[in-house]
Amino acid sequence: MMQSKSQRQDLHVAIIMDGNGRWAARRGLPRVAGHRAGVAAVRRVVERAPELGIKRLTLYAFSSDNWRRPAPEVQSIFWLMRAYLRLDSERLRQRGARLQIIGRRDRLPPLLVREIERAESATVNGRCLHLRIAVDYSSRDAITRAAADMTTAFARNRPPGFELMRGMLTRALTADGGEVDFLIRTGGEQRLSDFLLWECAYAELLFTERMWPDFDAADLDRAFAQFRQRERRFGAVSPIVLLSPDSSSGGAR
Ligand code: FPP
Repeated sequence: MMQSKSQRQDLHVAIIMDGNGRWAARRGLPRVAGHRAGVAAVRRVVERAPELGIKRLTLYAFSSDNWRRPAPEVQSIFWLMRAYLRLDSERLRQRGARLQIIGRRDRLPPLLVREIERAESATVNGRCLHLRIAVDYSSRDAITRAAADMTTAFARNRPPGFELMRGMLTRALTADGGEVDFLIRTGGEQRLSDFLLWECAYAELLFTERMWPDFDAADLDRAFAQFRQRERRFGAVSPIVLLSPDSSSGGAR
């Protein structure tokens, strides 16, 4: 029988934290106020996640397309990240969290990179929660890089077969965080925006109208309760369909 993965306790949840700008605009505040309130939401979710059995949490903080934003906004997001890493890494360490930043580092301000390295090494032994924050991240770039690395590795030999290549790509792309079980996007939009495309192949998706700065522990609890209700078939048939007499057309995705 297909085991429903949603009962597992080592889940990987990914969140697209959207709506900071609109949250601020509705209050007549500058966009940066929305990002600042967004950091408070990050803290709430990071506190609650391990209590729900979430072992890996990946937050989309800055996509490679976000460089198109006005420079002062980009700088203020980086400033907030640096402050978060400086202020919160000790608490994260005490709570057994391991912090990792994924994405490109070569375009980030050197002071932010230094803070990232410090926070990562301070929390390297964390075992309760693997907290990944995606900064200057593009999933298409990550996939392309993994494919390019593979091509280089096989430059002088015959390329391996399709299945082997697929397995190698999967291993390269999921080595750190694994596949995503549940993806939440706040802010009302319903798209993936170049976030963990390979890793989300079988993720359950939840889109909520709630703006990220308003998202709290109770929202995470409600979202998670919905996730626990979902039946995950991974392309196979439901055990109930397997038992029914006219199940020959089963196998819905
Ligand atoms: C999306 O809202 C949010 C961002 C692009 C930035 C997210 C950054 C933070 C929450 C602060 C720093 C993060 C950490 C992890 C400490 P938006 O600005 O696109 O909102 P809008 O769609 O309403 O304009």
